[in-house]
Amino acid sequence: MLSTRAHTAKFCSPKQAAQLSRALAPLLSASTSTLGKPVGIRLAFVPAVSQHCQRHNRSYGGARAFSTTSVTRMRDFFPAKETENIRETLPAWPHHGFTEAEMLAVVPAHRKPETWGDYFAWKFMRVCRWGMDFCTGMRGEQKVDKRNPTTATQSIKPLTESQWMIRFLFLESIAGVPGMVAGMLRHLHSLRRLKRDNGWIETLLEESYNERMHLLTFMKMCEPGLFMKLMILGAQGVYFNGLVLSYLISPKITHRFVGYLEEEAVHTYTMAIKQIDDGHLPKWSSSEFVVPDIAVKYWHMPEGKRTMRDLIMYIRADEACHRGVNHTLSNLDQKEDPNPFVSDYKGGRVPPRPALKGEGYEREEVL
Ligand SMILES: [Fe+2]
Ligand SMILES: [Fe+2]
Repeated sequence: MLSTRAHTAKFCSPKQAAQLSRALAPLLSASTSTLGKPVGIRLAFVPAVSQHCQRHNRSYGGARAFSTTSVTRMRDFFPAKETENIRETLPAWPHHGFTEAEMLAVVPAHRKPETWGDYFAWKFMRVCRWGMDFCTGMRGEQKVDKRNPTTATQSIKPLTESQWMIRFLFLESIAGVPGMVAGMLRHLHSLRRLKRDNGWIETLLEESYNERMHLLTFMKMCEPGLFMKLMILGAQGVYFNGLVLSYLISPKITHRFVGYLEEEAVHTYTMAIKQIDDGHLPKWSSSEFVVPDIAVKYWHMPEGKRTMRDLIMYIRADEACHRGVNHTLSNLDQKEDPNPFVSDYKGGRVPPRPALKGEGYEREEVL
């Protein structure tokens, strides 16, 4: 681990700041990777110089507070666009927010497969999880109890920050696909069949948007290596087409599969929070760690609640929502039932809260 600092001129423009960031990168060199695995990423635990200059137009003294890899240049993959007339572009779907109690109430959960479709979705997810563990370079002692893979959180050895970041990036890069596929196919179905959709499309598209915000947030902290980029590219190609086919054949099983995927996401983030709490991830617990601006703005993270742990708490609550939504949608009639999560209930009843129902709601509970 190495501590580095870069100071920028007060008057830097976004473009100059980006150039400066690139120019400084070799000087802000770091030590060797703690991972040593082929799936490379370059870590930087605070936003790049350009982002701070754009936001504050002043030296912030925190270009890349510390880094752990042999970084030669760190790019801002998603710089905010600023034109002559546009100051900023706000998110199309503002985050609905969580209370602290809601975030703390999230726990890993698992819905037991009941039908052959559930069983198929669950088994296929086990294969995907094995693949992700393999790509993350997880060793035996870093894994949890195999009998309860989505609820057990105790392992003999913790993962490193680099391993976690690879896991987060890969997970988020594929997690944004199902909502878009399902929303797109339901949209086309509605147009083609001249039928109402009853509120599913917006929830599904918003889910994929939310997943992309997770990815953008992590991309402000690290840069994937070439191998990782190729893996993401290949995975998306296979995954997107597979999901289109799967959703056309059985949307019910596909929603169940996504419910299981989200169980994995909640489990992953719960493990990360636990390992931060146990003091195994010092770089993320450091007082020098700064959450990217994009995350602060999207989740409206309050002052004093902007640690990596806080950020993961927000993301985990999002994943818990996706888990509850997809398991519930899988329980509904795919053609006729309305989306309960955006419905106005009779008698002042409040809509269901998916984050708090890990196994999802049964049809009779919500309709
Ligand atoms: Fe996510
Ligand atoms: Fe998710």
